[in-house]
Amino acid sequence: MSERYVAALDQGTTSTRCILFDRHGRMVSIAQREHRQHFPHPGWVEHDAAEIWSVVRKVVPQALADADVDPSQVIALGVTNQRETVVLWDRRTGQPVHRAVVWQDTRTVGLLEEIAREMSAEEIRRRTGLPLFSYFSGPKLRWIFERHPHLYERAVRGELMFGTMDSWIVWNLTGGVEGGRHVTDVTNASRTMLMDLDTLDWDDDLLDVMRVPRAVLPEIRSTMGTVGTTVAPVRGLPVAAVIGDQQASLFGQTAFEAGDAKCTFGTGSFLLLNTGETPIRSRHELITTVAHRAEGQPAVYALEGSTAVAGGLVQWCRDNLGLIRTPAEIETLAATVSDNGGCYVVPAFSGLFAPYWDPGAQGTIVGLTSYVSKGHIARAVLEATAWQTRDLVEAMNADAGVPARSLLVDGGMTGDNLLMQAVADALGIPVVRPIMAETVARGAAYAAGLTVGYWADRNVLKGQWQRAAEWHPQVAEDRRELEYRHWQHAVALAREWGRRTA
Ligand code: G3P
Repeated sequence: MSERYVAALDQGTTSTRCILFDRHGRMVSIAQREHRQHFPHPGWVEHDAAEIWSVVRKVVPQALADADVDPSQVIALGVTNQRETVVLWDRRTGQPVHRAVVWQDTRTVGLLEEIAREMSAEEIRRRTGLPLFSYFSGPKLRWIFERHPHLYERAVRGELMFGTMDSWIVWNLTGGVEGGRHVTDVTNASRTMLMDLDTLDWDDDLLDVMRVPRAVLPEIRSTMGTVGTTVAPVRGLPVAAVIGDQQASLFGQTAFEAGDAKCTFGTGSFLLLNTGETPIRSRHELITTVAHRAEGQPAVYALEGSTAVAGGLVQWCRDNLGLIRTPAEIETLAATVSDNGGCYVVPAFSGLFAPYWDPGAQGTIVGLTSYVSKGHIARAVLEATAWQTRDLVEAMNADAGVPARSLLVDGGMTGDNLLMQAVADALGIPVVRPIMAETVARGAAYAAGLTVGYWADRNVLKGQWQRAAEWHPQVAEDRRELEYRHWQHAVALAREWGRRTA
């Protein structure tokens, strides 16, 4: 019999990739393409969902062709995605009716106070586990419907469909206007600010507050479970798992037990701690979210610390400043100097996420002197991710009541040694990376493969985890703490600047 594989489709903030995995969890092929980012106003970030679907149509067949694999050899497909981003499309034509409003987009900041008058931020957090902030889907939907009353009317008449990127892609994969499945999974639904974290169902009061007619909503399904079979771009792949990308990387790190944690460095950075079957409410400004759910089983929850800008800052240095030509060059440039020269960069491009949740904070560079070179700026750019990670780990430690002894990491930026050393230095604990840094896709493949019995159980997957590299702190405690205080001052300035210029 010919070899069988599991495919993962990872629709991220800047690119989409399809990866094939074999029984040993090894990557057999990868096809990847970027899509355009639209920034029509300061703070606005949009994607063209039709373009993203056309990218999906290319990468899936390409990944199969590159490995010379026939669709019949793909036993399951797992879909994973950038979360919170809002797609609204026409049920009859299958065309988006508005640009997708991306998770980083801050246009809803002015709406948050109005929303809070209808349901307090505390009550929203109690029901959803989420702070009332522009990051999540609900306020974005309300914004679209308020600005475009004709879309609201069409939504009420049942002519439109809403979904996060997973819903849009699964609907198209499974037939689109010809009977596509309109579903989402519980991890993605937990980011919409429309789902009750205890009932795992849409909450009518929240739907009222966000002005979302029920008719537009997808059905909430388990993470693991077959939702349909693909019709396009290749026929016959069972879609056996759907999972938000950060929850996928937790799964891909085989962080299955309560107490297991990981931090992924992508466009943003995301620290997740598996807390088991009970949703733990954070006392230190973290998010409570669903980690995954197998069909017929209770949901597993996580605490999450999210920052909006990590790799995104490096990309900004390339695209907006022309400081580097490729993301990898930031390390080369940073290595031309031995420290940050007194310079700190706070990348508050979408306000500041956890643990500050300050929508008004604005990006800031402090400590400029004629001594500072572009090498120092490059170093401060990398250190910004390290210090933001420290902020998240501090909050996580305070919630958990015990300090983390090491940090498991993954994602594209973990190939940057200087950054990983900076993270270890900022945290004062070892940082550990597995051989397979593509844990988002791997987690989606694992979830899909478990559903169809490709892998017998989670222990088999745990056996596939291999350590690749480890970084140990190299700076003295007093220097680390002094620099952390500098970082905290820089953050305070970014917040103050936002207040004064509002
Ligand atoms: O919550 C946003 C997150 O899902 C985006 O992930 O990997 O596309 O930066 P990424």
